[in-house]
Amino acid sequence: MSERRTAVVTGAGKGMGEAIARRLARDGFAVAIVDVDGDSAERVASDIREAGGEALAVGGVDVSDRSQVDDAMQRVRDELGPILVLVNNAGITGFKRFLEITDEMWDRIIAVNLTGAFYCTRAVLPDMIDAAWGRIVNISSSSAQGGQQNMAHYVSSKAGLIGMTKALAHELGPQGITVNTIPPGSIVTPMMQEAADRGRLGSLDELVERIPVRRLGEPDDIAAACAYLVSDEAGYVTGQIIGVNGGRVT
Ligand SMILES: NC(=O)c1ccc[n+]([C@@H]2O[C@H](COP(=O)([O-])OP(=O)(O)OC[C@H]3O[C@@H](n4cnc5c(N)ncnc54)[C@H](O)[C@@H]3O)[C@@H](O)[C@H]2O)c1
Repeated sequence: MSERRTAVVTGAGKGMGEAIARRLARDGFAVAIVDVDGDSAERVASDIREAGGEALAVGGVDVSDRSQVDDAMQRVRDELGPILVLVNNAGITGFKRFLEITDEMWDRIIAVNLTGAFYCTRAVLPDMIDAAWGRIVNISSSSAQGGQQNMAHYVSSKAGLIGMTKALAHELGPQGITVNTIPPGSIVTPMMQEAADRGRLGSLDELVERIPVRRLGEPDDIAAACAYLVSDEAGYVTGQIIGVNGGRVT
């Protein structure tokens, strides 16, 4: 059993979840790489171990499946110890005009992006309550702050995460547990690359012109904010929306 605090990062097989997991491992956490994609989870965990960190790959876990989530969290608990940090990062996106969003598309996005965070949080919360210390970071989206056309299902799921963050912050503050949300904007990851390749984002040069700091975001930009929010020194920060978007949404 580890002496380090244990952190679970969902969707950590690539993109910003991967960057968050690597950063938390460097900061001394034992990190569980939870992802539906087992190969990616293994790759990230073995890289972290090679660099001297402590990491466990928990692949084949769909966060929208309660029993898979419960089993995954139990495995993490057994192998790394009580889970005191949770980053709900796993997410999927979708682009459809509102009248073309089917019931299935709506349900799937809500299931992964919102219900998945509910399942993961429920599964780990008893550990945090026992320890009277915990940190939860929900990765939402700047689109839930500013709105985004053709993404009503996605934006609704992310707005739900912002609401859950605020409600839980009130409920869990007295127990030493903070809950915050980072809504990223325009971060270069496989998800964003795929959207760009499909022409969903228009011209990237024009997009950059609309971002005050005049660049796209890097996964490490999100990891840095996350590292602060899960630290001891962020104990007075809860219920907050910490935008990391180059200033495009304030
Ligand atoms: N990239 C951006 O600009 C951006 C902007 C706003 C919000 N976000 C949000 O940030 C988070 C990370 O995005 P990203 O760009 O790194 O995405 P990504 O697609 O590059 O990576 C997502 C990871 O989550 C995993 N995943 C997907 N569905 C899963 C499920 N059901 N269960 C478990 N794992 C699952 C994937 O296998 C993948 O490893 C997402 O929640 C996304 O909505 C991203």
